[in-house]
Amino acid sequence: MALNSNINLVKSSQVITFDQHKYLLIKYLPLLNKMFLQNLLKIQYPIIQAPMAGTDNPQFVAAACNAGVLGSLGAQYITPEEITKAIAEIRGLTDKPFAINLFSLPPLMVPTEKQIEEALSYLQKYYEKFELAMPSAESVKTMIDPEAQLEAVLQARVPVFSFTLGIPDKKWIQAFKQQSTLLVGTATNVKEAHVLELAGVDAITAQSSEAGGHRGTFIGPFEDSMIGGLALIPQIVDAVKIPVIAAGGIMDGRGIVAALALGAQAVQLGTAFLTVAESPAHAAYKKAIQEHDANDTTITKVFSGGAARGIKNKFIVTNNDKPLLPFPYHHSLTRSFRKIANETGQIEYTNLWSGQGGHLAKELKLSELVKSLMTETKIVLNKLASQ
Ligand SMILES: Cc1cc2nc3c(=O)[nH]c(=O)nc-3n(C[C@H](O)[C@H](O)[C@H](O)COP(=O)(O)O)c2cc1C
Repeated sequence: MALNSNINLVKSSQVITFDQHKYLLIKYLPLLNKMFLQNLLKIQYPIIQAPMAGTDNPQFVAAACNAGVLGSLGAQYITPEEITKAIAEIRGLTDKPFAINLFSLPPLMVPTEKQIEEALSYLQKYYEKFELAMPSAESVKTMIDPEAQLEAVLQARVPVFSFTLGIPDKKWIQAFKQQSTLLVGTATNVKEAHVLELAGVDAITAQSSEAGGHRGTFIGPFEDSMIGGLALIPQIVDAVKIPVIAAGGIMDGRGIVAALALGAQAVQLGTAFLTVAESPAHAAYKKAIQEHDANDTTITKVFSGGAARGIKNKFIVTNNDKPLLPFPYHHSLTRSFRKIANETGQIEYTNLWSGQGGHLAKELKLSELVKSLMTETKIVLNKLASQ
């Protein structure tokens, strides 16, 4: 049945046939889903460039904002002063809304001298390879103050504050809400979604098992929350009243339509944005993302002490069974040589965070990627509606 006659029939008849119902649902799905979150975030397209701490930068985030999506800066590994500076830089490059993201960790268990010694003993060869001095145990124990990071984000009165791996204390939630900063928490299971909604967040990112980077799990072991998007997204959508953002393995229009069909109001893409021209990722990293297969990624703790999905490389294989410090101490222990490896494209010695969809990544300008995502979405919707 032709689409136009379908519309006329719907107008003139009392009874809506299955075909007409399907047509209306598919045709207006994005509109229905658009209702709330897109307006709330004030973005042109229902797409969020995922925060990618350690890889993104203000120029990249602003380019995302200027392309009509919500740009997000992963600020976990930078100091409060650097956060303030980065926010000012973003504001200097765009007048569009953006998000700042932090990890919301439980109180840290400071590692013992013995644990640090054990970890340093097998990491020594990497310090030597990259001609770096070994860190002192004291410097390993010194972490950026998470409260000072939160204060820097609060003081900057950012449009959106997103977080993962937990929920900031009530006093922070209240302070952000008081100044109308929108709050977005991350859930990897239904229980976490409930807890986030109760805490008063404005939206939830449902991070499925395909996702690149750190697992956001904060209730139960991460292994129990390795839930694929097809199962996770509708269950979180059903469990909460607030909007849900789908994250994990979404690379093109097909993935976007699938996420919207499952009830998400927007999608958050990390890996797809890593390979664009404006992405600060090294060319060798971008190439690895595009060339690896879905089964070439793995969940590993070897780089940071926290579970994260990345492309399997020599460092993972060699150190899989070695003693680790808890996150983020292990992260800072391996940071100096990973930084050099990153900058010089020595991809066997650094974390290559990537989701399972990496093979579908494209090398385009950021604005071209966003345009092609939206064009593909429309094509897929029209194709479904005409079937
Ligand atoms: C390189 C990289 C770094 C990431 N860093 C963060 C981060 O700092 N904060 C966060 O909430 N999520 C982070 N994530 C996870 C993303 O928010 C998102 O869940 C994930 O990218 C979605 O899966 P995809 O990569 O398959 O699109 C990161 C992901 C990648 C690929």
